[in-house]
Amino acid sequence: MKKGLFITFEGADGCGKTTQINLLKEYLENQGYEVVLTREPGAKGLGEKVREILLNYDGVVSDRCESFLFLADRAQNIDIIVNPAVAAGKIVLCDRHIDSTVAYQGFGRGLDRKRIKMLNDIATNGRKPDLTIVFDIDVETSMKRVGKEKDRMESAGIEFHNRVRNGYLEIAKEEPERIKVVNAAASIDVVFENVKTIFHKTLQK
Ligand code: TMP
Repeated sequence: MKKGLFITFEGADGCGKTTQINLLKEYLENQGYEVVLTREPGAKGLGEKVREILLNYDGVVSDRCESFLFLADRAQNIDIIVNPAVAAGKIVLCDRHIDSTVAYQGFGRGLDRKRIKMLNDIATNGRKPDLTIVFDIDVETSMKRVGKEKDRMESAGIEFHNRVRNGYLEIAKEEPERIKVVNAAASIDVVFENVKTIFHKTLQK
C-alpha cells in the first residue's frame, strides 16, 4: 500500500504560506497524488466554528483558554481528517499545526513551552508531521501584507509578532530533520521552487 504523508505549513501571519499550500496541492495533484488540504484552526466541520470564536470573539479570552481552543480544534482535525487520510495513503497538507501553538502561545503569549508541547502531544495522540515548512519573513513586511483589517490574533502587536517569528526560528533549530525554513520574502515563484525541492527531498527519505 502507498505510504501517506503529513506535511504542515507554518509561519507568521502574512508570510504567504496559504498561497504556497495551494500551489503545492495543485502541483501534486497534477502529478497524480491524492491530496487532502486542511487547516488549523478551522478544519472542515466543527473546526470552522472554533476558528470563528478564536479569530473573531471580541470579549476577554484568557491565554490558557485560547490554547485549549486551538488544541481542541487540533484533536478534531487529527482524528477526523488527518489520520484517516494518511492511513489511506494520501498526502495531507495542513495550514498550521503544533508549531503554531508553541510559537504563538509559548513564545508569543509567554506560556510554559514544555507544557504546551505536552498538551500538543495529547491533542495529536503522538502523531508528528513528516515534514514542516516554516515561511520566515520580517514582521514589518508580513504586517504590510496583512493590511489594515486585522483579526484578533493579527492585532496582538509588533512585539508579540516578533516573539512569534523568533520562536519559529528557535523551534526549527530544535528539530532540523523535520522542520525546514524558507525565506518567504522572496517572490512567490522562488519560494515555491524551494518548497518543491524540500518536498522531493522528503519523498526520497
Ligand atoms: P491563519 O490566519 O494562518 O489561518 O491563522 C489563524 C491565527 O491563529 C494566526 O494568527 C495564528 C493563530 N494560531 C495560534 O495562535 N495558535 C495555534 O495553535 C494556531 C493553529 C493558530
